[in-house]
Amino acid sequence: MNPSDELVASLTTIATYTESNNTIEVHASQCDAIAIAFISADQQTAGQFAIKAAASSQPLVLVILAKDEKPRSIAEGFLKLQLISQRLAKPHCIILDGLFSLLHNIAWTNKGPIDLPELAARQIDARLAGETLTVYCVDKFPKMVDYIVPAGVRIADTSRVRLGAYVSEGTTVMHEGFINFNAGTQGASMVEGRIPSGVMIGNGSDIGGGASIMGTLSGGGQLVISIGENSLLGANAGLGFPLGDRCTIEAGLYVTAGTKVTMLDASGTEVGIVKARDLADKPDLLFRRHSVTGNIQCLTNKLATKLNTELHVHN
Ligand SMILES: CC(C)(COP(=O)(O)OP(=O)(O)OC[C@H]1O[C@@H](n2cnc3c(N)ncnc32)[C@H](O)[C@@H]1OP(=O)(O)O)[C@@H](O)C(=O)NCCC(=O)NCCS
Repeated sequence: MNPSDELVASLTTIATYTESNNTIEVHASQCDAIAIAFISADQQTAGQFAIKAAASSQPLVLVILAKDEKPRSIAEGFLKLQLISQRLAKPHCIILDGLFSLLHNIAWTNKGPIDLPELAARQIDARLAGETLTVYCVDKFPKMVDYIVPAGVRIADTSRVRLGAYVSEGTTVMHEGFINFNAGTQGASMVEGRIPSGVMIGNGSDIGGGASIMGTLSGGGQLVISIGENSLLGANAGLGFPLGDRCTIEAGLYVTAGTKVTMLDASGTEVGIVKARDLADKPDLLFRRHSVTGNIQCLTNKLATKLNTELHVHN
């Protein structure tokens, strides 16, 4: 990120880079010079990678992002996803428009990524050799941990977190949890429900088992949803508007943006009806469906969520 002018000048000469965002094919013979340029700029990891890349038979590309624009190549798209999962860029702070149509479906297998048109032949070859080619998923995105394992996280079922997820230190993702690309957690969180693309969860919040948060990629939802700090989305609950700090949604209750909510004062008296979207980002609210009347009610949340530290500090 933010390379020095000297490094840019060196790479410009070696890789004949001209301007703007570019994906440049690199030959093994250029790798030594690239490694020297990175090491001279004190970018040891990139330098060591370039040295190893020289011995690889894989196609090599150098991706230079001079501006944050919508990705124009698959390599640019994957670099941006990596930047998010490496925690070098936060979801929403980097332009990913058009990424979905840019990437194509790939079989992510125990023998590496395989283009779908080649898959059937590769499976036959494997079978004839007495082996199994295991296809982990057919998707545009690989699972994050095959490329990046951010420090201090616990992920019970790694297939549930896609490359491009932003998983902060202290976060635990249990088996039912899911984090899409361009989404994630701002701090220690317990994730046992689904975080769709575009959604960020505040520090100390808990997404209960099987809980659902409405996304914006399909189904027409336009409102970008988030959850503040120390909030709880109960087991099997659902959220369709931005929830503030120290809020709770009762287990099993789905509150969409248009849901009409009866407001209760401290004595439990009804004081009005509002749409949930009007309560966006407001703190200290408890939402429940009254078990006798069926009304969805909002009252002051007296108990802010406290994560079970035992489950997070040892990540
Ligand atoms: C909504 C919720 C937070 C309420 O919990 P709570 O504040 O501890 O509430 P309590 O069960 O102590 O009940 C307090 C009072 O509210 C009443 N109450 C609670 N839920 C109610 C409901 N849905 N309808 C009517 N009354 C309700 C209780 O009957 C009790 O009444 P009382 O004062 O007359 O005795 C809780 O039921 C819940 O859903 N928690 C989510 C937990 C979860 O899913 N965690 C994730 C695990 S994976």
